[in-house]
Amino acid sequence: MPEEETSRAPETDEAAAAPKAKKRNKKWVVPTVVVAIIVVIGVGFFAWHNTPGFCNSVCHSPMDTYVESYSSGDQGMLVTAHAEAGLSCLDCHEAKLNEQLTEVIAWSSDTFTTTADGHLVDANVDRFASPETCLKSGCHDWNDVVDSTWGFDGNDAKYNPHSSHQDGSVQCSDCHKSHETSTLYCAKCHDMNLPEGWEATTDAA
Ligand code: HEC
Ligand code: HEC
Ligand code: HEC
Repeated sequence: MPEEETSRAPETDEAAAAPKAKKRNKKWVVPTVVVAIIVVIGVGFFAWHNTPGFCNSVCHSPMDTYVESYSSGDQGMLVTAHAEAGLSCLDCHEAKLNEQLTEVIAWSSDTFTTTADGHLVDANVDRFASPETCLKSGCHDWNDVVDSTWGFDGNDAKYNPHSSHQDGSVQCSDCHKSHETSTLYCAKCHDMNLPEGWEATTDAA
């Protein structure tokens, strides 16, 4: 039957081409599996990297103090309310490759110093408790913050830590401390109620 023959001819061609195609496909099996494994490890590592436990799993010193503060329940530390809200270290400490490399180098060459209570000595911590960090979108809205803190913690309504004659001279970090006890700068001069767990600023004027 000539009809069958014509229809078989292309089939034979395909059959001849098939082993070639299969062979070509096989070459990708090993790389694909390797890539899949790397992706799975990468995703797993990324998820772990996002948890507080990651930070002190390798760098016990100096990270233990910070990780402990995260679960201390101490209301005087800013980290507590954020931990209770389910935020992690990296929500406030945006992972930046250059900073992470600097950290790894400082850690592995042991060129960091800590205070007696285990905090890193770093003149630059103001960058974390800053408008850039706290007021980024999805976090806090400045107008809401100001509106909600007139007469804070049972103080006279004229007192607002975010709107006063001190504006411009005090930084967020002069009051808000994440891993240490927060301090109310205004209480240096005014007799005010302190938020739970806070202290009055003791810095010299
Ligand atoms: C003079 C001290 C002081 C300074 C400076 C300060 N805060 Fe506050 N902040 C407070 C106090 C006090 C509260 C009320 C805390 C409480 O009752 O637990 C507060 C509360 C907040 C809250 C929570 C408000 C709410 O909605 O309940 C946010 C957010 C906040 N501050 C952000 C900032 C940011 C951002 C800066 C810097 C731009 C800043 N603060 C500077 C003292 C200060
Ligand atoms: C609410 C935001 C917030 C969260 C969540 C947070 N931190 Fe911080 N962190 C800060 C701020 C603000 C500072 C600046 C010093 C301070 O306020 O105590 C800081 C300082 C640090 C420092 C010192 C940095 C330096 O350069 O000296 C380390 C280390 C650190 N945090 C680690 C952690 C780890 C680890 C976690 C999670 C277990 C964490 N932080 C969670 C806000 C946060
Ligand atoms: C260095 C000392 C000092 C600090 C710190 C300070 N104040 Fe004052 N404040 C004064 C003095 C002095 C006056 C004017 C004298 C007065 O009337 O008590 C004043 C006046 C005021 C007034 C006007 C109403 C009043 O009681 O006379 C308010 C409101 C006020 N301060 C809020 C604040 C807030 C909020 C903070 C923290 C962000 C703060 N102050 C920090 C010294 C200070």
